[in-house]
Amino acid sequence: MLFAVALLTLVSFLSLGSAYSDLSDDTLKNLPGPGDDFDIHKGSILAPILRTRVSGTEGNRAVRQHFIDFFKSQLPEWRIELHNSTSTTPVSGGKEVPFVNLIATRDPPGSFEGDVSRLALVAHYDSKYTPKGFIGAIDSAAPCAMIMHVARSIDAALTKKWAASDGDDFDVEHKGVQILLLDGEEAFRSWTDTDSLYGARALAGDWESTFHTAASIYRTPLDSIELFLLLDLLGSAQPRVPSYFKTTHWAYKHMANAEDRLRKLGVMKSSPNHAANMVKRENKKPRAEPYFLPEGSKADNAFMGGFVQDDHVPFMARGVEILHIIPTPFPRVWHEITDDGEHLDMDTVEDWTKLVMAFAAEWMELEGFFDFTAGKRGETTKSEL
Ligand SMILES: *[C@@H]1O[C@H](CO)[C@@H](O)[C@H](O)[C@H]1NC(C)=O
Ligand SMILES: [Zn+2]
Repeated sequence: MLFAVALLTLVSFLSLGSAYSDLSDDTLKNLPGPGDDFDIHKGSILAPILRTRVSGTEGNRAVRQHFIDFFKSQLPEWRIELHNSTSTTPVSGGKEVPFVNLIATRDPPGSFEGDVSRLALVAHYDSKYTPKGFIGAIDSAAPCAMIMHVARSIDAALTKKWAASDGDDFDVEHKGVQILLLDGEEAFRSWTDTDSLYGARALAGDWESTFHTAASIYRTPLDSIELFLLLDLLGSAQPRVPSYFKTTHWAYKHMANAEDRLRKLGVMKSSPNHAANMVKRENKKPRAEPYFLPEGSKADNAFMGGFVQDDHVPFMARGVEILHIIPTPFPRVWHEITDDGEHLDMDTVEDWTKLVMAFAAEWMELEGFFDFTAGKRGETTKSEL
């Protein structure tokens, strides 16, 4: 009897984490774009990441400091931690190289650390050792910038939502967001189990044996991750991201649905049917939408088990649920010296940002908590009129 009751309680806790609710059309239409902050030369978010940042070098340190400064100045409610490890690499001549992951967490006020289930937004910030001068704009400067802008754009809505909660809604009080900007994803010589994923392997291993207090709902920080949403190689035109994992296809479907709605609302700037692109072409017949996520209706038996080795691997091996947003085939600039700011397709970068923002906002059930007039100084829109 006791066992049955305990089990029931556990089951009801588990099912609570996955609440999700769609944003309204109005909210989707008004999601803030990054504007000048993604300018590749002077944008406050993206430009500082577009430099070489090989693990263990000054560039890597400077980019990490940029993240820290961003959170400290713009998102002071987020708890920042650095996770450190060291390892030799095939090119370090026996020396230990430091790998530093940045973890930024926003939990509901007053919640206990071990009782919060989190949506983790993940990208790697190190750049590849070769070719010399490699920038890695899609790999993964742009994904890091997307995550930063998403965090900033949902932050005030999170504050409002939690402030409005009367303390009776378990889900609201126990759902948070975490950002993992990982170091040492790239191989130094060539991809092997030991020459790659330095930061992710160290973090997943350490978190597996970091225990929350005994009464916690989630045993470890790994258990607290409800979904590990990994962005990689995003920012080239016409990406096509399949649904890699059957167990998170439900989450993929949510994102695909958000994409479909954003397209139908005319928000996606990279669409041939976006108003700005329509005026540029003679033939006004609508063209097929080039979906980023074309597998929303993939059948359960169509999952062939193919996937891409990336930062999720050590987490997935420990039971964490993964949504991997990486195009197949890889973009043409992948691991080429041409993967730089100039080769980003900025409309696609903006579209990904909005899509991830919509997904995160729907995951956190933020409909009704956005105030789109607040950030737009000089506009006179008054919602009460
Ligand atoms: C981790 O490394 C960073 C930078 O290298 C350092 O500032 C920080 O104090 C270290 N943190 C811990 C917990 O050792
Ligand atoms: Zn890479």
